[in-house]
Amino acid sequence: ATTRTFSIIKPDATRRNLTGAVTKMLEEAGLRVVASKRILMTEEQAKGFYEVHKDRPFYGELVSFMTSGPVVVQVLEGEDAVKRNRDVMGATNPADAAEGTIRKAYAENIEANSVHGSDSEENAATEIAFFFNDDEIVG
Ligand code: CMP
Repeated sequence: ATTRTFSIIKPDATRRNLTGAVTKMLEEAGLRVVASKRILMTEEQAKGFYEVHKDRPFYGELVSFMTSGPVVVQVLEGEDAVKRNRDVMGATNPADAAEGTIRKAYAENIEANSVHGSDSEENAATEIAFFFNDDEIVG
């Protein structure tokens, strides 16, 4: 079925002017950008978005990284969008990412890993609603 997922092009990628290159890989994987905006996340937004990781040792660093520069938040639509997006992103740690994936091509390390993608349809809905109003999504 055609479904939606939520994606972030992270500060390490926007800093290196890779917004287009990353988006091209998403599109070539069969995903359609149905909403997109470039924002500087506030500390409050980053903390809220990554709340599930609040007890992890990397939480503080993750929040500083995600607020260190612009990000591009996107809603992606496609056949089985969550899985399709996760497949093209590759493993969280670029050292483990497969050839042909975004993280293999562009990620700097496990934290500065260029992209985020929702890990389930349920989380996708929550994450989309965290950044977008319905009228900002045009399928
Ligand atoms: P993301 O998919 O956005 O979800 C959590 C993020 O935490 C992850 O990508 C990385 O950017 C970051 N991170 C930093 N260190 C780790 C780690 N050791 N394990 C998992 N994620 C990490």
